Amino acid sequence: MKVLITGKGGQLAWELEQLAPEVYDVISVGKEELDITNETLVNAFIAEHKPDLVINAAAYTAVDQAEKDSEIAYKVNELGVKYLAQACKKINARILHISTDFVFDGESTRPYQTDAKPNPINIYGASKLAGDIALNEILPEASVIVRTAWVYSVNGNNFVKSMLRLMQEKPQLGIIYDQIGTPTWAKGLAQWLWLIADKPEVTGTYHWTDAGVASWYDFAVAIQELGLEKGLLTEAIPVLPIPGTAYPTPAKRPVFSVIDKASAEVVSGLNTVHWRKQLSSMMDELV
Ligand SMILES: NC(=O)c1ccc[n+]([C@@H]2O[C@H](COP(=O)([O-])OP(=O)(O)OC[C@H]3O[C@@H](n4cnc5c(N)ncnc54)[C@H](OP(=O)(O)O)[C@@H]3O)[C@@H](O)[C@H]2O)c1
Repeated sequence: MKVLITGKGGQLAWELEQLAPEVYDVISVGKEELDITNETLVNAFIAEHKPDLVINAAAYTAVDQAEKDSEIAYKVNELGVKYLAQACKKINARILHISTDFVFDGESTRPYQTDAKPNPINIYGASKLAGDIALNEILPEASVIVRTAWVYSVNGNNFVKSMLRLMQEKPQLGIIYDQIGTPTWAKGLAQWLWLIADKPEVTGTYHWTDAGVASWYDFAVAIQELGLEKGLLTEAIPVLPIPGTAYPTPAKRPVFSVIDKASAEVVSGLNTVHWRKQLSSMMDELV
């Protein structure tokens, strides 16, 4: 099977490359080789390489910047997905596409089911939802959408690496305690995607994060504890819980974005692992 991964250089694309099964012929391309907002290029590239499967890990992920740059957010997250889906349809290729917990408004108090009604509260979430809708319209019989959240990896910029840096630079940190979700090691998501790559009969929408629930404050405290334990940090600093209102950002964030993973576990046969255990494994790769 020939697999095309878009978004090379991003956190997830990198983990997908690391875990790519040797039996597959895998091509991974970045924005320079395949800008997914260029319809002509997307058509020509897919027609030339004829992948059996496209894993779309490319996205515009700058959540706050998207409030100002909504045009580019929609170009990448909606039109890019539409162009890929149209090109795949022409050659009967399948798509695995990644979406986000930010399609939900965060008003729920229970984990969001895959069929819960989306209601994004920021441009990034709305642009990702528009991409999901386009994919469902164009290629419902040959696509999988997996929504994930709070993604980190050893490759790329993310909360874990920012915290480790700030914990060495600042005398103390205030971290938001009233936004609840679940951290996700990109490696676990990549593992799930490769299992689904091998199951062409699987279609539809799934949710995948690590197991458990955390606030950003809980996440930061765990990063410090594990960082000290593993020698990535030398000194503990005070980490203080602050409300989201004390750290205003251009984009609103859902206050509760835990998503239900049950169907993704069943369909793949892979169980989610608690986020703290995954965090520890990722930090071992940083040592
Ligand atoms: N990160 C999270 O916390 C999070 C949470 C929920 C869902 N997700 C979703 O998970 C997926 C993977 O996220 P990630 O964390 O791996 O993102 P990432 O690290 O930001 O990687 C995205 C990649 O897409 C590339 N890209 C941007 N515009 C492109 C274009 N026009 N054509 C081709 N490539 C383009 C980026 O290149 P440049 O860097 O050069 O722009 C980058 O390499 C995305 O669909 C994202 O929406 C992420």
